[in-house]
Amino acid sequence: MPNFTALRAGLVTFKGDPFLAAPDACLVYEPDAIVVMGGGRIVDAGPASEVLRRLPQGVTPQHYPDAILSAGFIDAHVHYPQTEMIGAFGEQLLEWLNKYTFVAEQNFAEAAHAQRVAGIFLRELLRCGTTTAAVYCTVHPTSVEAFFAESARFNTRMIAGKVLMDRHAPAALLDTADLAWSQSSALIERWHKRGRQLYCVTPRFAPTSSEAQLEVCGALRRATPDTYVQTHLCENLDEIKWVEALFPERKSYLDVYAHAGLVGPRSIYGHGVHLTEADFCTCHQSGAALAHCPTSNLFLGSGLFRLFDAKQAKRPVRVGLGTDVGGGTSFSALQTMGEAYKVAQLNQTRLNAIQAFYLATRGGAEALHLQDTIGTIAPGYEADLVVLDRKATPLLAFRSEYCKDIVEQLFVLMTLGDDRVVQATYVAGECVYQRGEEETAFRYPAAAAGAAADVPLPG
Ligand code: GUN
Ligand code: ZN
Repeated sequence: MPNFTALRAGLVTFKGDPFLAAPDACLVYEPDAIVVMGGGRIVDAGPASEVLRRLPQGVTPQHYPDAILSAGFIDAHVHYPQTEMIGAFGEQLLEWLNKYTFVAEQNFAEAAHAQRVAGIFLRELLRCGTTTAAVYCTVHPTSVEAFFAESARFNTRMIAGKVLMDRHAPAALLDTADLAWSQSSALIERWHKRGRQLYCVTPRFAPTSSEAQLEVCGALRRATPDTYVQTHLCENLDEIKWVEALFPERKSYLDVYAHAGLVGPRSIYGHGVHLTEADFCTCHQSGAALAHCPTSNLFLGSGLFRLFDAKQAKRPVRVGLGTDVGGGTSFSALQTMGEAYKVAQLNQTRLNAIQAFYLATRGGAEALHLQDTIGTIAPGYEADLVVLDRKATPLLAFRSEYCKDIVEQLFVLMTLGDDRVVQATYVAGECVYQRGEEETAFRYPAAAAGAAADVPLPG
């Protein structure tokens, strides 16, 4: 018999895609709910009045009277090694990569540095209520080792991989097509599906991989078909021109990836700011996903992602939200939703709170083809949850008094909220983060101890 725990608060989750059906019909809202968790999964969820009657014996729900429970947030695109250079001044993508990113990533040759940053990064995710992310490491296998080891300690479901680059970057960050194969294969063998960890073949983007290396990426995916692929696509106009010059024989940027066998389910492309109708159709038909990264696209001046174009009902593309730290400027899914709203405004469209919270939860899970596993609060799903405090700040407490319904409340949280709103984060049914004193806020769950037993702790 598993140990059961239960949480009591308001509850928000989704039973459909609010870009394709009436948003109100997709939202499940329960003002006073109980969620029961056991064995890492949700075993019961519903109105408190009903769940109280069937609670397992001896279980007393932890009550968060001012809070709303949501599925843990999903960050579909983020770079953990860029935590140390988030908020770097003055450049757009290609100059920014050379001036800041490629400098910071060289530090990850040192295992101790990678371990330190992985620890800080994962704590930032959990502080923001993010329980799953698609994460870029660096070219160094040690960076992947450090990341998955720390994720295994928290028992978080993470998707990550070694960045592959064999040209157009500093020599210290380059591998080769052969090393891409051997090092990625070894990491897949060691980490893919170990506990909750999932491996992602990670060519940085077309300009930094030769045709030969991209072919190797396709071969890696074919060798272990349930691994992921992540890369960048059509983020910036100079980048797109560069890809056209490097691959003149391909029909488009996306066709470079298609030619290498990198377009399909569990392919996740960051940005897609400047996609064509044909590109959206290819993504729709293949099951590939886009990660919309609004804080990054604004910060790096990349452009305005056409979310409502991507989600057109006649050929909807799977879309998740990405922070893209450190091109992005916040780890917070709430802030990312707020900026996605502003990007939609600049496109003369209107992202409502139901759609925004869907993108950060169930929509993100669909982008990752994990919609039956995470992203929804319902029996059978993995018990990754975030507790959102409607009164987290004096302004939020005051503003929340004037919310007429849950949709307005959610909109206010994504407009005014950030990491301060996250009262607690639960991973596989265990509390790993409780807002409060920094020294005591985080704890590794007992359930992860077995999974991570042979993973050395950071020094
Ligand atoms: N394109 C290639 N690499 C990167 C990166 O690290 N960040 C962003 N935003 N775009 C990229
Ligand atoms: Zn990125």
